[in-house]
Amino acid sequence: MPLFPRTGDGTLSIMSAAPPTAALPPHPTLKAYYAGASVKRGFLREMFDATAPDYDYVERLLSFGTGRWYRRQALRRAGLSTGMKVLDVAVGTGLVAREEIALTGRPQFVTGLDPSIGMMRRAVDALGIAAVLGVGEQLPLAGEQFDFLSMGYALRHLSDLNRAFSEFHRVLKPGGRLCVLEITAPRNSFGRAVLRGYMRNLVPLLTRITTGRADSQLLWKYYWDTIEACLKPEKVMDALRDAGFIDVKHFAELGLFSEYTARKAV
Ligand SMILES: C[S@@+](CC[C@H](N)C(=O)[O-])C[C@H]1O[C@@H](n2cnc3c(N)ncnc32)[C@H](O)[C@@H]1O
Repeated sequence: MPLFPRTGDGTLSIMSAAPPTAALPPHPTLKAYYAGASVKRGFLREMFDATAPDYDYVERLLSFGTGRWYRRQALRRAGLSTGMKVLDVAVGTGLVAREEIALTGRPQFVTGLDPSIGMMRRAVDALGIAAVLGVGEQLPLAGEQFDFLSMGYALRHLSDLNRAFSEFHRVLKPGGRLCVLEITAPRNSFGRAVLRGYMRNLVPLLTRITTGRADSQLLWKYYWDTIEACLKPEKVMDALRDAGFIDVKHFAELGLFSEYTARKAV
């Protein structure tokens, strides 16, 4: 498997200097799940490693089976097309990368990155893409080499949006495009309550019953709690601009499926 070795906290030594801006976590510490910022990464890596076998199944439950179609449309809207060289941050089991292969034309055009070897192994086995073990906040990759950078449903798992976005900016070529997909809690309280009932209670319960696994149940409860606690889209857009991106846009399909798109200046 073409994985780069992890060193220390999961990075290689070709990092850019730390950005001057203060850290911007996507949400406050959720003490019900982990004790503090310093242990969040380890908590997430263990959780995703353990639940990787069930991920695709539960994701289909959550998205009512539309996840594949939706990801492809969102990537197309963000400007992904044939021949582009892509980095998919938080590749997971490869649900975004699969659609990127279809749109760019070849697995060789797509590189996946993720800190969870359990998740990423599934992407590599299924898709044959190159894979890099690491986190979005410290990309172990040389600058200005990708035409397109995506990150699907992992914004809430970052420890510092400012740092991650400046890394995304660094590895994109001039003119390169960014697409960040995320779930955003509906602003209206009725929609929010309905979704909470479904995502925080029903999906974790169904997951527990059908997979028999308590850790999968925990993952999907955590999933909703991070959605509710996450920064508002305006703050995410400000952070993208602060990192140097231009043409920063946010579109929320059904007020729920958020797409952040942006470009690096030529
Ligand atoms: C909900 S999954 C999303 C997978 C895939 N992108 C998709 O659309 O289904 C979130 C992924 O983010 C990864 N992740 C967690 N923390 C991360 C970080 N700091 N940087 C990059 N990826 C991270 C997890 O290991 C996990 O594979």
